[in-house]
Amino acid sequence: MAEFTLPANSKITKGTHFPAKSGGKNLRSFKIYRWNPDDSANPRVDTYEIDLDQCGPMVLDALIKIKNEIDPTLTFRRSCREGICGSCAMNIDGSNTLACTKAIDECGKKEVPIYPLPHMPVIKDLVPDLSHFYAQYASIKPWIRTQSATPASGERLQSKEDRAKLDGLYECILCACCSTSCPSYWWNGDRYLGPAILLQAYRWIIDSRDEDTGARLDELEDPFKLYRCHTIMNCARTCPKGLNPAKAIGEIKKLILQRHGA
Ligand code: SF4
Ligand code: F3S
Ligand code: FES
Repeated sequence: MAEFTLPANSKITKGTHFPAKSGGKNLRSFKIYRWNPDDSANPRVDTYEIDLDQCGPMVLDALIKIKNEIDPTLTFRRSCREGICGSCAMNIDGSNTLACTKAIDECGKKEVPIYPLPHMPVIKDLVPDLSHFYAQYASIKPWIRTQSATPASGERLQSKEDRAKLDGLYECILCACCSTSCPSYWWNGDRYLGPAILLQAYRWIIDSRDEDTGARLDELEDPFKLYRCHTIMNCARTCPKGLNPAKAIGEIKKLILQRHGA
């Protein structure tokens, strides 16, 4: 994936340098984007130096150490620290990923740059505003839609083969790493659904228990919602769960063509 770089006319200023408190032999610096909506200052990049011998192995460990021991004003989301909740997604060392599953050792740059997910409004520091992303998720109605009566057993069963069709889709944690790495989503995110939401849409289209496949495809057949994907493939390269949203988007396009007898 092309690295996210700041535009030349960026108003981001150099911030404060926080040297490691007690020295140490295994020092590493983290250059972290800071912006506070409650002051009138431009965004800045603060540099925090920490001793990795006194820190856990993941980038999230470093962020928590900085917040606990150096600067309690640093703001970021996290919850599970297991790669499950998706809340710690951010741009680390030039790529969108999860802070809790990204090892500090895997970061190539000596001073590790950490920014919020690109091209999203920022609430504070590393916290992006995902309201529009979640509204787009709600727009695909991400639940089983049925026409038939519920079976007497109360369960809608699925064969092993049909269940297997959800592999590579159900694992999505909606972290938004893929959508915020996609140039089409950067420029047309108001109307283009983006790779994460389209992967989720396909997850319900291909579910054998769902009975609204035609309506789902009709809802997606739109020059912006679906067809702004130009196969750039950043989405598949950046997904921290190893998923391939581009493939799911291709499958939706194929199903729409099949409906038209092509
Ligand atoms: Fe995150 Fe991957 Fe799901 Fe995209 S497809 S939202 S990158 S887990
Ligand atoms: Fe974007 Fe992925 Fe398509 S990066 S253009 S959604 S292949
Ligand atoms: Fe949950 Fe990182 S804290 S995915």
